[in-house]
Amino acid sequence: MKQPDGAESLREERPDLTVLGLDGAFSIGEQAFSVVEELFLEVKARTLVEFGSGRSTARLAQSFPEARILSLESGHEYWHTTSSVISEMGFHKRVTVELRELQWFRVGWGMHCSYRWGGFPGSVDAVLIDGPPGWACRGREACLYQVWNSLRKGGTVILDDYARPGERMAARAWKLVFGGAIELEELVVGHGLCVVRKVRHILPQFLNPRLARLNLWSCYRFLRSTATDTLRRRPMPLTGTR
Ligand SMILES: C[S@@+](CC[C@H](N)C(=O)[O-])C[C@H]1O[C@@H](n2cnc3c(N)ncnc32)[C@H](O)[C@@H]1O
Repeated sequence: MKQPDGAESLREERPDLTVLGLDGAFSIGEQAFSVVEELFLEVKARTLVEFGSGRSTARLAQSFPEARILSLESGHEYWHTTSSVISEMGFHKRVTVELRELQWFRVGWGMHCSYRWGGFPGSVDAVLIDGPPGWACRGREACLYQVWNSLRKGGTVILDDYARPGERMAARAWKLVFGGAIELEELVVGHGLCVVRKVRHILPQFLNPRLARLNLWSCYRFLRSTATDTLRRRPMPLTGTR
């Protein structure tokens, strides 16, 4: 099937429902999405949670016609557009796009900027973590902490953008928090995927001393990148001006 090139954003006032290609700048990518479909089919996904809505939300609804989907979105504009697409395609009875703004919170010793805490369906089979955007400090890492109690044993979580250092750090933190209760696998496709399988349920171990080291390192990285951004944005002083 020929996919539109996806450069147009979902931000038009009246969404163009034929434009659901996933190879645009902010989307997961067609190749990676095929892998997500396969892995979610393997666990017979009927209850899905997506962190970071977009074209992928409608595509998941199309690929899993029996599934109930909760998709979380932090941006008002993106929430509005994705909700409109879902309604116009007639998926609104089983797909909920929920606005949960980003906020700062602490988990154990770590600070995260991620979706406001809220409820999840009782027994989640599959989770796609493709938000919040990369600038949100340890935002994606916190998504697994939020959904953990609702994720069923044997359920699958897929983290997109695993080629980025922040996402790799999230997976390292998960391993320290959940130990043998999860299995991790890296797939080199699209922007990189990390597949997490829940082997058994445990109470997360947030007070692991090795996690404290990782927290310090991530604070340093966050402060450094914030400082660099601020310096880049500050206009250079002109010679002779105050
Ligand atoms: C990686 S995107 C999610 C993409 C979606 N899962 C998909 O594959 O279509 C993560 C978040 O970035 C934000 N976002 C989406 N498009 C954007 C754009 N063009 N510019 C800035 N932020 C965007 C939205 O808040 C979205 O939830």
